[in-house]
Amino acid sequence: MSASQIQPAKGKLGVLLPGMGAVATTFVAGVEAIRRGKADPIGSVTQMGTIRLGKRTDNRVPKINDFVSLAQLDDLVFGGWDIFEDDMYTAAMNAGVLEKDLLNEHKDFLQSIKPMPAVFDKHYVKKLDGTNVKGGANWYEKAEALMEDIKQFKEKNGCDRLVAVWCGSTEIFLEPGEEHLTLRGFEEAMKANSPKISPSMVYAYACLMSDVPFANGAPNLTVDLPAIHELARERRIPIAGKDFKTGQTFMKTVLAPAFKARLLGVSGWYSTNILGNRDGEVLDDPESFKTKEESKLGALEHILQPELYPSLYDNMYHKVRINYYPPRGDNKEGWDNIDIFGWLGYPMQIKVDFLCRDSILAAPIVLDLALFMDLAKRSGMRDTQEWLSFYFKAPMTAEGLYPEHDLFIQLMKLKNTLRHLKGEELITHLGNEYYD
Ligand SMILES: NC(=O)c1ccc[n+]([C@@H]2O[C@H](COP(=O)([O-])OP(=O)(O)OC[C@H]3O[C@@H](n4cnc5c(N)ncnc54)[C@H](O)[C@@H]3O)[C@@H](O)[C@H]2O)c1
Repeated sequence: MSASQIQPAKGKLGVLLPGMGAVATTFVAGVEAIRRGKADPIGSVTQMGTIRLGKRTDNRVPKINDFVSLAQLDDLVFGGWDIFEDDMYTAAMNAGVLEKDLLNEHKDFLQSIKPMPAVFDKHYVKKLDGTNVKGGANWYEKAEALMEDIKQFKEKNGCDRLVAVWCGSTEIFLEPGEEHLTLRGFEEAMKANSPKISPSMVYAYACLMSDVPFANGAPNLTVDLPAIHELARERRIPIAGKDFKTGQTFMKTVLAPAFKARLLGVSGWYSTNILGNRDGEVLDDPESFKTKEESKLGALEHILQPELYPSLYDNMYHKVRINYYPPRGDNKEGWDNIDIFGWLGYPMQIKVDFLCRDSILAAPIVLDLALFMDLAKRSGMRDTQEWLSFYFKAPMTAEGLYPEHDLFIQLMKLKNTLRHLKGEELITHLGNEYYD
C-alpha cells in the first residue's frame, strides 16, 4: 500500500472556536497547562494514544503523535467568537469548570484571548442574549465579516493553517430544506436573510470559503447540508460532525454493542440527566432540546439494528431526558435504566449512574478534532471525515450510508485510516490459525 502525500505540519496552527464558553475555555486552559508541564493530556487520543503496526510479533506500537505528523501543542494559537465580551479568563471563571488556582496560573495567557463579535440571532438560541454581536444587512454580509476576521486572525498570529471547531450553543431544531440544497441556493438564501439559515451555518460557510476545515461539536445541522458538502468538495476542505460524544451517549455506544454481540434483547432504555451549566440552561428551551434529543436518540437504533433482530429490539422503548438543575453546574449526572432480557426471555436490569464532568470529557475531543482535521486537510482529504465518527453522537456520513455508532468499530476505523494514510497494512484481527 502506498502512503498518501501528507504536507508537513510546519508553522503555527490557529484553532478558531465559534462559542467560547465552558468547553472552549476548558480546552484552551487545559492545553496551556499541559504545554507548561503542569498536567497530562488525559483523554486525548492524539497525545496519549498508540497504534499497533504490522503483526503482533513485530512489536511496533508507536505513539500516534510520532506515527503521523500532527501539529504540536506549542504550535497552537487560539481565537474565536462569542456573543459575550468576556475574555477567556473571565469566561472560564464564569463557567466554573476548572479550579480558580489553575486559571490564575494562566491568567495573562487566557486574558489575551478575547472573542471577536459573533454572528447571532436570539431566534436560534432563545435563552441567550449578548451584546458582542456583528451588524450587517443580511447573513451574507455577516459571512463576509467573518471571513475578514479569519484573514486578520491568520495574519496577526502568523498562522500557517487554521481549523475551526464549533463550541457554540445548541440552536433550535431546523430541518434541511430547499435553501440548503445547492451552494448557489444557499448563498441566495443568505442574501435574502432566510430564517432557514442559522448563525452556525454562516460560520461554516465563512470558514470553508476561507479554506478552514470545520468540525461541529453541537447537534445543529451546520455543515450537514448538501450546499455545504458541495462547498467542501469544491474547495477540498474536510468537514465533520455532529455533537461531541462525551457522557451518556459515550456509555450507550459501549454498552449497546455488547448486548448485541451476545444477542441479549433490550425492552427499554430510559436515560435522564441533570446538569446546571449554561448548556443545560440553553437545552431547557424545548426547541434547542429537540435538536439534542434527535442527536441522542439515533445511536441505539443504528447499533441494535431492530430490522435484523426484530425479536430482540423491535419493541424497545427509548427515552432521553435532560433536566436543567443549577446546583450541579458543569458536573452532570446521567442515569440509565436498561431493561434487558436473555435466555427464554427472562428479564434483567442494568443501572448506570455516571457522575461526569461535561467539559472535562469534551476538551480532549476538541483537541483531537483540531489536530486530526488539520491532518486531513494536509493529506488532501475533503468533505465528511467519517473516520472521526469516534468523537460524535450523531456522526455525519456520505450520502445514503448509515452512521457507525459502535465506539470500538469507530476506533478501528480511525486507526485504520491513519495506517492507510501512512501506507501501513490495515489490521483485520485475522488470527494465525492454520487453514488447509
Ligand atoms: N460538554 C459536553 O459534554 C458537550 C457534549 C456534546 C455537545 N456539546 C455542545 O457543545 C456546545 C458548547 O457547550 P458548552 O458547555 O461550552 O456551552 P456554553 O453555553 O458554556 O458555551 C457556548 C458558548 O457559545 C456562545 N454562543 C452561542 N451562540 C453563538 C454564536 N452564534 N456565535 C458565537 N458564540 C455563540 C455562548 O454565548 C456561549 O458562551 C453546546 O452546543 C453543547 O451542546 C457539549
